Amino acid sequence: MKRQFGPTNAMYPQPIILISTISKEGKDNIMTAAWTTNAGRDNSSIAISIGGDKLSFRNILQTKDFVINIPGTDLLGQSDFCGQNPGEEIDKFSLTGLTPLESVLIRSKMVKECPINIECRLKETFKVDSANLIIGQAVKVHIDEKILEEGLIDFNRFKPMVYAQKTYFSLGEELGKRGLSQK
Ligand SMILES: Cc1cc2nc3c(=O)[nH]c(=O)nc-3n(C[C@H](O)[C@H](O)[C@H](O)COP(=O)(O)O)c2cc1C
Repeated sequence: MKRQFGPTNAMYPQPIILISTISKEGKDNIMTAAWTTNAGRDNSSIAISIGGDKLSFRNILQTKDFVINIPGTDLLGQSDFCGQNPGEEIDKFSLTGLTPLESVLIRSKMVKECPINIECRLKETFKVDSANLIIGQAVKVHIDEKILEEGLIDFNRFKPMVYAQKTYFSLGEELGKRGLSQK
């Protein structure tokens, strides 16, 4: 027997990312987001959803770029902070102790402590209800050598966080490789 619900957040897991942006005056900002996914076919397009008229969205419209930083579980507190506090009046880099690092191709800075940083240029935006679906074009991906094994990310060493129903989770062990049903 299944119970029926209206629209509810049953999508799990949703990876937690830190979106770093910069205003046209040069003030850096970080926001936490969980509503994000790969889009398109070749890993170059990434979709994020930013609600309302948040500073991060306005920054993206101004500079036409942003960085997707993927934190590990060690950055839980900082990630929560960046999602609980609007950046209008505060400097989230200095308040969290996170370090802004110059990007290679875009103006928005990377978050140094995150092992993965994806420099994105703004491709398109779509209004979805009161949120903005933003498609970024990944132009440069930085991955810490410490989490790489033969050119692939070793998710036993890098532990991203996931989020659903106002709760943070870590991920479990590997279950198998894609295609296992074909054998
Ligand atoms: C775990 C977590 C996930 C979040 N995911 C999103 C999201 O996907 N989209 C969004 O617009 N806000 C999301 N938020 C809320 C924003 O991070 C929050 O409104 C933040 O203060 C916006 O920052 P800004 O005002 O500096 O741009 C999330 C917050 C948390 C704690």
